[in-house]
Amino acid sequence: MSFKAPAGNHGGQAAAAGRAASSLDSHLADEKGKSLPCPGLLAPVPDHHLVHAGDACDPLAPVRNADPSRPFVVAQLGQSLDGRIATISGESRWINGRGALDHLHGLRASVDAVLVGVGTVIADDPQLDVRRVPGSSPARVILDPRGRLPRGCRCLREDGVRRFVIRADARGVPGDAEEIVLGQEDGELSPASIVAALFDRGLRRILVEGGAATISRFIDANCADRLHLLVAPVIIGSGKAGLAMKPVAALAQARRPFTRLHVLGGSDVLFDCDLRSGREVPV
Ligand SMILES: NC(=O)c1ccc[n+]([C@@H]2O[C@H](COP(=O)([O-])OP(=O)(O)OC[C@H]3O[C@@H](n4cnc5c(N)ncnc54)[C@H](OP(=O)(O)O)[C@@H]3O)[C@@H](O)[C@H]2O)c1
Repeated sequence: MSFKAPAGNHGGQAAAAGRAASSLDSHLADEKGKSLPCPGLLAPVPDHHLVHAGDACDPLAPVRNADPSRPFVVAQLGQSLDGRIATISGESRWINGRGALDHLHGLRASVDAVLVGVGTVIADDPQLDVRRVPGSSPARVILDPRGRLPRGCRCLREDGVRRFVIRADARGVPGDAEEIVLGQEDGELSPASIVAALFDRGLRRILVEGGAATISRFIDANCADRLHLLVAPVIIGSGKAGLAMKPVAALAQARRPFTRLHVLGGSDVLFDCDLRSGREVPV
């Protein structure tokens, strides 16, 4: 790869940007070897880092076919082009279109458990079922360390699906939902212990659906195998940001997962990021 970082002045940047765009064209190739246009990219990207998945490539296949001998965690986040998940007033419905929603329900139908933080339950009161696609609804898991879960929230309804509330202290849960009490580390529930507790209960494939705080903690703890980032072509410009992870000291330490790009119906783009690729991380 011959690309050099842009020079520190504007003239140099413009020239380097042109070189970068043409150089990067050869690195953004679909699986049949056809180049994708990538105008405006200024950073060098390793070879074969991003591939355009063909129409025949099912983004749910890696979830469904995950190694049955170990837990598998997929996180999903729907966001705007500028990485927002809500306006400044908290309005978040709807940033993404029907393609992303169908995909989310397909993800739910492909896993054993869907997990959300209590912040999402308070904000959205989600049902966490698969009403948009055929299949079975997964078990529902709520991270509620301090007992903030609202009474009567829809995710705890009794509909025959297993429900779990993960707490730092025993507080009790309604009906036949199950409470899991886990010790905290540095004031937080460790994502690894959450995954292990669910695996012990027969829940192997886990969808971490949101919100941003919960997903960020799972990725920071190296407890997510894949990230499905669903990007809608809308610019909100301010408001609630998506991922907010621990800072890296240098760009070289940033994750660059191998990523497959899928264009979904209804104008959403899915970046399917393999978080076990790209750089060596302690597990
Ligand atoms: N765009 C999307 O795809 C998407 C998906 C879902 C939700 N959302 C949006 O996201 C927003 C809510 O997200 P959020 O980031 O504010 O909240 P959240 O991630 O839903 O919940 C965060 C809370 O869950 C608990 N929690 C999560 N992980 C924990 C851990 N490892 N250890 C201990 N506690 C943990 C904590 O509860 P305590 O504070 O009680 O300790 C924490 O404050 C809403 O606006 C919702 O609409 C967007």
